[in-house]
Amino acid sequence: MADAFIARSLNEIQFWSRIMKEHSFFLRLGFRCEDTQLINEANYFYNLFEGIEQKSYSFREDVDPATIQQFNMEVHTAASHIWAFKRKVLGLILTCQLPGQTNFPLLVDHISREANYFRNRLFELNQGKLEPLQDAIIDENVFFLKIMADHAKFIGHLLDPSERKLADQAREFSHDFDQLLYQAKDLESMRPQSQTQPLLSQFLDQNRVSVKSLRDFKQTAKQLIEQCRIKSIIHPLLADHVFREAERFLEIIDMFEGALTYSGQQVAIRH
Ligand SMILES: [Fe+2]
Ligand SMILES: [Fe+2]
Repeated sequence: MADAFIARSLNEIQFWSRIMKEHSFFLRLGFRCEDTQLINEANYFYNLFEGIEQKSYSFREDVDPATIQQFNMEVHTAASHIWAFKRKVLGLILTCQLPGQTNFPLLVDHISREANYFRNRLFELNQGKLEPLQDAIIDENVFFLKIMADHAKFIGHLLDPSERKLADQAREFSHDFDQLLYQAKDLESMRPQSQTQPLLSQFLDQNRVSVKSLRDFKQTAKQLIEQCRIKSIIHPLLADHVFREAERFLEIIDMFEGALTYSGQQVAIRH
């Protein structure tokens, strides 16, 4: 149990601290050169999460769980701070105080949601309080389906308008994931009656099919961007970043599917 807590904590931190570090980089890229204060703040968070990422790889297997609990708290604070920074930037953009900056408001909102998710995960891990499997399945899918729908929209809007075929494909993914998100929300509003094994299993299967094909699309886009074969304003690191987030979602779906088939109805395992 202690081993699982340590492994799970470090896995979340290794994945998400790199993501937070890259968000800082994307924010900085989008600021105007005169926004030196915001640039400094973005650099501060880049270094903060790089330090956290490095530290997360430095623990030995026999580390005291209390040390990891302490580390989770420390990272929780950092995630709260970057969340507040992102929301501040969103406020500045939405009140038109940064004309000419180049991050979409939806992207800034999106990365703040990811920070909030990370923060909640750390909190839950430290509480040792695991949601019932059925609740976790619906909540996690609602979160990630919206993330995937947003990614499709970002890709569609950051491709050069002359990349008509790829932009069409991105729009189709956007529509597909919007529909899946609504389906997930329907299931959410029908709870707890909707939380049957066959319905949840079908829900996961259906989501997995679409996430796989979006993941493949992102992988292709990433390669085309890296090889400079398509016209866009997508940074290669952003293409890789959204690809990794799709892979993460697939891992979570598989984990849930495994837990569902394995353990019947009332088991409280959360990734
Ligand atoms: Fe992200
Ligand atoms: Fe994302």
